[in-house]
Formats: sequence, C-alpha cells, structure tokens
Amino acid sequence: MVPTAWHARRPGAGSGPVAAVSGSAVSGRSTGPAVEVEHLHKRFGDFAAVRDVSFEVARGETFGLLGPNGAGKTTTISMLCTLVHPTSGGARVAGADVVGERGKVRSRIGLVFQEPTVDEYLTAEENLRFHAELYGVPPASLGPRLDQILEMVELKDRRHEVVENFSGGMRRRLEIGRGLLHSPRVLFLDEPTVGLDPQTRAHIWTYIETLRRAEQTTILLTTHYMDEAEHCDRIAIIDHGEIVALDSPDALKAAVGRDRIEIAVPDAHGAIAALDERLGVEATVSEGMVAFYVTDGEEFVPRLFAESGLAIHSVRMSRPTLDDVFMAYTGRTIRDAEASAADHMRTSPHMLARHR
Ligand SMILES: Nc1ncnc2c1ncn2[C@@H]1O[C@H](COP(=O)(O)OP(=O)(O)OP(=O)(O)O)[C@@H](O)[C@H]1O
Ligand SMILES: [Mg+2]
Repeated sequence: MVPTAWHARRPGAGSGPVAAVSGSAVSGRSTGPAVEVEHLHKRFGDFAAVRDVSFEVARGETFGLLGPNGAGKTTTISMLCTLVHPTSGGARVAGADVVGERGKVRSRIGLVFQEPTVDEYLTAEENLRFHAELYGVPPASLGPRLDQILEMVELKDRRHEVVENFSGGMRRRLEIGRGLLHSPRVLFLDEPTVGLDPQTRAHIWTYIETLRRAEQTTILLTTHYMDEAEHCDRIAIIDHGEIVALDSPDALKAAVGRDRIEIAVPDAHGAIAALDERLGVEATVSEGMVAFYVTDGEEFVPRLFAESGLAIHSVRMSRPTLDDVFMAYTGRTIRDAEASAADHMRTSPHMLARHR
C-alpha cells in the first residue's frame, strides 16, 4: 500500500504533520493550502466508504479524485463540503474546519453535485438569482456578475429560457456557472461531465480552464474518466475508499515506466502459462485480451513472436496511461473495477439504499 500520509503531500509543502492545520495557523485568505485533509474516515454502519484519506490542495490548483464507481469520491467531497459528518479525522477548506465551522466553509465554497439540481421550471437567470439570494451576493454587484458568469458558460443568449428546454451540456454549464456565482475560493465539481458526449465534455473542460485562469479558483473535482484526469495538476487515485497514489499525471505515469502489451490469442489461460514459462512475464486477462507489462515493448514484441510459440491474432502496445497507473496500484483496470462494483451492487441490493 502506498503510504498516504507522506505520499499524499504536495511536493514542496511543509513536512510537518497535517495535524498542525487544525490549529489557528490557517484562517481566512491566509497563505495556507486551500484544502487540507487529515486522516479522514467515513463508515456507514460496518462499511468503511472512506479510509484514512489525507491530502492537501494548493490554492489555485486543479486537483482530481479519480476512481471507479463506489470508490468513495462523492463521500469524500461530501465531507469536505460539510454535507456528511466524518466518522474520524478532519479537514480544513478555505481556512475553516469542516466540522467546527460549517457555516464558514459553506460560504467560501461552490459545489456542483453529481446529480443535477438546477430548477427545470425556472429560467437560467432565475436559477442564478435564486442562488445569489441564498449566498447573499450584494445586489449592486449582482447584475455585472450575472452577465460575466452567463458569458463564461456561454448561456447569455438563453438566459431568459426555462431550463426544461436545455440540453444536458447546457444544464451542466449552468450548474457550473451557479457554483461560481458567489466567487467561491474552492469549487467542488462532482463528476462535472458524466453522461455528456465527448464534444460537450471537452467544452466543459474549456470552461474549467477559463475560470481557473480568470478567478484563480481552487478546483477539486472527481471523475472516473482517465482522459479528464489528465487536465488536473495533480490527481489522487482512490480505490475502495483509500488513496493508492497521488501525484501529477506525468509523474504517476513515469513512475509506472513500463509499456503495456495486449495480445489476442485463442486460449488466454494457456497463453498466460506459456508467457510465464518461456518469457518470464506475468500476464493477466483484461477486457478479453492477455495483458502484461515490459520495460521495452519495441524490443520485446519480436521476441514474443519468436519465442512464445503462441498463435497471436493481434498485438497492441501502449505507453503508460493513467489506467496503467491504476492497474499498477490495484491489479485491475478502472473499467474492470467498475464492472465488479456493478456486480457487487447487483448482488447486494442493500448497498443501493443510501442513508446518512
Ligand atoms: N449514505 C450511505 N449509506 C450507505 N452507504 C453509502 C452511503 N453513501 C455512500 N455509500 C457507499 O459508500 C461507497 C462509496 O460511495 P461514493 O458515492 O462515495 O462513491 P463514488 O466514488 O462517488 O462512486 P460513483 O463514481 O459511482 O459516483 C459505495 O459503496 C456506496 O454504496
Ligand atoms: Mg460519486
């Protein structure tokens, strides 16, 4: 297991215990990190959904929690947004304690939930005005702020239209705009692009980049899309409620440092045994292919054909991806993990019942 306590720390950050964050050193707009999480733990009955999670997010950073269905991403975010009470451990968000200073945390953050929450029967602008009222945005600054936000999420022309008529991507953009309206210091985005087509997903990422540049907002988001995690400055890979790796996407991939080879063969189990015996590689079956890692794929492939004695239908070689990082730390791909999580849900109907 990767030791999260030190591994999860931002490079260059102080090396003292994060316990110091629960003191008075970090407050308001101090120079401390935007988010400081210390040994956060959440149990639902006997089930540990989040286990001993610790990490820091620097101000202005885009930080991603990447993991399969049921990994504990929403539960972690919910604790940081004060919506779920931690079983143990703690966190400070924008300088305020998520347990002792819930009001302060709430006023300093923006939150875009995984499930849609905009009101379909109101117009885009009415949704935003309602939110502004809840957050006490001063009336004098509201007009220009509305214009700015609607422009940023490209809904200025549709501001007076009811949300019922909006596409999935437009609704998501409105939700992101609403999360930003009160100029939060930290914006939480739980699966900002789930269910959207690739083009709209790419568009949403453009907004996220724009807003980061325009407002220097710290962004903490969750995703189970590997390609999206690449947009983050750093990511924490979370599996079964635990952080198994944390670093920049490039550093994580460099640390894996091996090429992935996948072969299609008629008899996968026979091939695994032959690869072990004749070439000394340990292979597994992944998504119907026999997959393994080698240090130099280009040199290995000719040997594979010459020495394995296998009837190989096709070969695929890839440089390390975040999926390989996930595989290196968990022993399975994120898609396999999602498939087994879905099976588990099907065979354990009580897991579907959610209660705080
Ligand atoms: N209120 C609850 N009561 C009981 N179990 C819960 C509750 N909330 C979450 N869980 C369980 O905790 C685990 C983590 O759930 P969570 O929603 O945090 O996962 P996730 O990583 O956000 O997954 P997804 O990618 O599907 O959104 C799951 O096994 C889930 O069933
Ligand atoms: Mg979730």
